Amino acid sequence: MNHEQILGLGMDLVEIDRIQQSLDRFGDRFLEKIFHPSEIEYARTQSRPALPLAARFAAKEAASKAFGTGIGESLPWLGLEVCRRSTGEPFLRFHHAGATLAQTRGVTRSLVTLTHTRTHSAATVILIGP
Ligand SMILES: CC(C)(COP(=O)(O)OP(=O)(O)OC[C@H]1O[C@@H](n2cnc3c(N)ncnc32)[C@H](O)[C@@H]1OP(=O)(O)O)[C@@H](O)C(=O)NCCC(=O)NCCS
Repeated sequence: MNHEQILGLGMDLVEIDRIQQSLDRFGDRFLEKIFHPSEIEYARTQSRPALPLAARFAAKEAASKAFGTGIGESLPWLGLEVCRRSTGEPFLRFHHAGATLAQTRGVTRSLVTLTHTRTHSAATVILIGP
């Protein structure tokens, strides 16, 4: 039998306009501080890049709540990458301090789900361990 357990749950809601304002004001500096190249490339294929970026921003904050750490030294913005399967389903990859944190906490699997309206993007993250 499989005895996986939920180690953490987090959600976040982001105003797309706030991401657009950061993009307008700080451009690449904002993008490169928060997002992986794959996340930026995907956003650029979309008609409103701020929308998928807001969802990815929300996913990072949701994961930081699932860990209970907030965004910071133990889970930096680039410690997490939101990837997509060919079906469109998102999944998370942990990097750098984020990978260390996930390993230390015994996270073997994670789930992420994203949603958007015209004005907001939201994400929920579940961390799973054995
Ligand atoms: C944890 C974090 C993601 C919370 O996000 P937020 O946007 O400030 O606040 P939200 O409204 O989304 O969430 C608030 C809720 O998060 C929860 N929360 C706060 N700290 C938490 C933690 N360490 N772990 C889990 N949940 C936490 C609380 O339930 C809180 O609700 P409450 O204040 O009613 O108790 C935030 O503190 C953080 O680390 N943000 C990164 C901030 C940053 O660097 N911003 C710069 C932008 S470039």
